[in-house]
Amino acid sequence: MDDAYQDIGRLYLALLSPERERGDRLGDDAMNRWMLDVPPGASILDACCGVGNDVLALHRGIPAVGNAGPWNAFGSDFSESLLRVARTRTAACGLPADRFRRSSFADLAGIADWHRRFDVVLAAHAIYTAPDGIDEGSYDDYLRASLHGMKAVLRTGGHLLTNIRDWAAAEARGFPPTIVENRHGGEIFRCRYHWQPGRTPGSLHAATLAFECRDSGERALSTLRFVGRSADEMAGMFREAGFRIVGREATGADGDPFITFMLQSVS
Ligand SMILES: C[S@@+](CC[C@H](N)C(=O)[O-])C[C@H]1O[C@@H](n2cnc3c(N)ncnc32)[C@H](O)[C@@H]1O
Repeated sequence: MDDAYQDIGRLYLALLSPERERGDRLGDDAMNRWMLDVPPGASILDACCGVGNDVLALHRGIPAVGNAGPWNAFGSDFSESLLRVARTRTAACGLPADRFRRSSFADLAGIADWHRRFDVVLAAHAIYTAPDGIDEGSYDDYLRASLHGMKAVLRTGGHLLTNIRDWAAAEARGFPPTIVENRHGGEIFRCRYHWQPGRTPGSLHAATLAFECRDSGERALSTLRFVGRSADEMAGMFREAGFRIVGREATGADGDPFITFMLQSVS
């Protein structure tokens, strides 16, 4: 599987607010609120943990959000280079390296000691991306396999929190460039998404992400591919995979709209 962020290094900070970098909160506002109802000590897996910021926030009990957690936090991702960063960052906060495993969503089904182990699985900002070899014709099968993998590690009755881009809203706005800027340690990090939209909201879309740190002059480019599916189409796929839809909310920023789902594993 591919790793669109492997050459980005510290420029990834452009996408993280200082609060997220410290692990004070999760990146999705609805997920932050929903987590307040999860009892302390529950086992939570971030199944696309990247550099580990949400795992750190779960381990710390999302201190910027409310009186919650802490939880037993675990992380997986298909990118070994991002996992290396995640293990190093979170070790300093007391998380053992064996809390992290390399796995795609689908391959979670083969991790025997994680079978039905988690109370909550998080999959933020990832299930709508199309890894190498996946396009609009093969995406639904890829999503089915991914949901099967995440369900395999959830206990019956456990919850999957996930989100998608709101493709219809993006199309209605004409796919304007998304610009994210964050300041870390006195330096300004910036990422500009330049969109190459597909023919319809349900097509394959691409975005070139131009990262820069104005202060140091570092620059990097990364290309991501996505498959657009409407919230109703996704809801149908979630039900077919054995999940009940418990919550569905518009999230994200005005210029970068998302839809977040709370799903319950029912069988
Ligand atoms: C945009 S980053 C989001 C990271 C983090 N979840 C967040 O919200 O900040 C997408 C992450 O999903 C991972 N990813 C994408 N598809 C995946 C898959 N099929 N299985 C496991 N990880 C995946 C990527 O490697 C990357 O770390």
